[in-house]
Amino acid sequence: MKIVVINGTEKKGITYKLKEIFLEKFKSDASIIEYYLPKDCPSFCLGCTQCFLKDENLCKDREYIKKIESSLREADLLIFTSPAYVFHATGAMKAMLDHFGYRWMPHRPMPEMFGKRAVIITQCLGSGGKSAAKDIKHSLSWWGVSYIKTCSFKLFSDIHWDKLAPKKKKQMTYKLTKLSNKMYKINYNKKAHTSFITKMKFYIVRLLQKSLGKQDPEYTDYKYWKSNGWIDKTRPWKNK
Ligand SMILES: Cc1cc2nc3c(=O)[nH]c(=O)nc-3n(C[C@H](O)[C@H](O)[C@H](O)COP(=O)(O)O)c2cc1C
Repeated sequence: MKIVVINGTEKKGITYKLKEIFLEKFKSDASIIEYYLPKDCPSFCLGCTQCFLKDENLCKDREYIKKIESSLREADLLIFTSPAYVFHATGAMKAMLDHFGYRWMPHRPMPEMFGKRAVIITQCLGSGGKSAAKDIKHSLSWWGVSYIKTCSFKLFSDIHWDKLAPKKKKQMTYKLTKLSNKMYKINYNKKAHTSFITKMKFYIVRLLQKSLGKQDPEYTDYKYWKSNGWIDKTRPWKNK
């Protein structure tokens, strides 16, 4: 199986350690590609809107986004990690997610996303870990991913792994190992179930695309929906 990890920080701190605990079980038989932010997506979206209106290949950061996108497309399991920075995911994570705005359902979602599974790991000193996870989940769900597990921790103590109380380390390791075991047992040859909410979002956007297509059949997003067959009978969660 293939795993892609998007690390919201380059620091080999606690977030890194937690991610390593989660991955341990997969290491012997999975192919794992990791991206570290901001190194692997170092620039901000400048809002030129070329990706939305014309073509994603016109993005000034395409070389970075293309690599990440193809890893996301190929992976069976997507893992996102972030410490909480001022109650949210890191700015580096947000900057990367902004570049994928054109992959939100109202634009041009990747059909593969509808069958994927994802895990989000966040942690914080006192508060903000859950909202950091929510930031990431928001994008993933609008990309079409229905199966998203989140694991969020509050340290309430030191911020260095080696100085954490053994009980705290044990608690976090237990929770992550439990989730890792659950994710390990999945048969990744079978697509994840697409939820009712994801389907509803799809059908609402489909109505919007139909109406946009009537006004302008050359509209970029409409042409994408049409070419995927989504304006007709094809659905991204069904096997062709
Ligand atoms: C810029 C910045 C903002 C932070 N904001 C929060 C916050 O809102 N809530 C919180 O509990 N901890 C906050 N922290 C603390 C980190 O979430 C915490 O130290 C975390 O363990 C760091 O993870 P790391 O070792 O993977 O870098 C912040 C740290 C930084 C550097």
